Amino acid sequence: MSKQVAILTGGGDCPGLNAVIRAATWKLAHEYGYQVLGVREGWRGLLEDDIVELDIGSVSGILPVGGTILRTSRTNPFSEEGGVERLLETVESRGIDAVVAVGGDDTLGVAARLYEEHGLDMIGVPKTIDNDLSGTDYTFGFDTAVQIATEAIDRLHSTAESHNRVIVVEVMGRHAGWIAVMSGIAGGADVVLIPEQELTIEDTCEIIRKRHARGKDFSIVVVSEGFELKSAEGDGGLVVQSEEVDAFGHARLGGVGNLLSREIERRTGFETRATVLGHVQRGGTPTARDRVLATRYGIRASELVHEGRFGRMVALAGDEIVDVPLAEAAGELKRVPPELWRIAETFFG
Ligand code: F6P
Repeated sequence: MSKQVAILTGGGDCPGLNAVIRAATWKLAHEYGYQVLGVREGWRGLLEDDIVELDIGSVSGILPVGGTILRTSRTNPFSEEGGVERLLETVESRGIDAVVAVGGDDTLGVAARLYEEHGLDMIGVPKTIDNDLSGTDYTFGFDTAVQIATEAIDRLHSTAESHNRVIVVEVMGRHAGWIAVMSGIAGGADVVLIPEQELTIEDTCEIIRKRHARGKDFSIVVVSEGFELKSAEGDGGLVVQSEEVDAFGHARLGGVGNLLSREIERRTGFETRATVLGHVQRGGTPTARDRVLATRYGIRASELVHEGRFGRMVALAGDEIVDVPLAEAAGELKRVPPELWRIAETFFG
């Protein structure tokens, strides 16, 4: 019987997941002659044996389509009673030889543990719109999110200017400000607030006052959802939608844009509005760049399976596709370097 390789997509979805599934299925099934299995909804599908067969027919037409045909979840087998045992049972009973896990730090953290602690043959593929994974220069999905955020900033510019308003744009980025800093630079934002750089509410108001004092009647402020909003006295912090956490211990972020908008208006007297981009940044068709990166990742992941080089994650280094230890992805987060933020800062005020 031919080798059986399972593919799963876990964590928050992002544009380009289908491009990985398509590329891996072509390479594994069509070129190497393996049986490809699609695990539904991330690790949940392996816990509950919810698996479908994939072939080049079933992945036809999905390249430009957003989301994931396999669906996704934030299921964590390590936080469920007997979860890992159930997962290993499915692998055993199905005769799965290797798993290609497409995900962010949570999904790849699980993959790394399953490889190291349970000897499961794993290959990781890095995805997240947040671009905060170590071990790779870029994750796919990020370029699309930056493009969407930049288009939004462009549109908000004209309405902000017509009304002499400040508009605060809240973008995603749980621990790192990659989307904010890149879309802020591309969109010409007047202030960019990211988790990596401390600026108080008063600092932000001062930048806006300075800009308005030189004759500008409107401003665009881009803020990451994970930015800690603090007063000069140090009060405040992370803004969460609810105290509830998911299976990986993450709170649901969101709301910093509205809070900041109210504070700016109250302190400066400038009329201010907030726009929260939210999941729009994760939806829809991937950019050409993300389609190509995701396809290259899918192909390289399949080659690693074929070469039997498990416990690795495919990665981008410069313009080359390389592979690094899976554990590297699940290690430290990749933060926005100060020099990149300073480029955005050049245009403040
Ligand atoms: O990790 C990607 C991400 O989009 C973060 O930027 C955001 O905080 C989170 O997922 C939102 O998750 P959910 O879709 O579960 O609300």
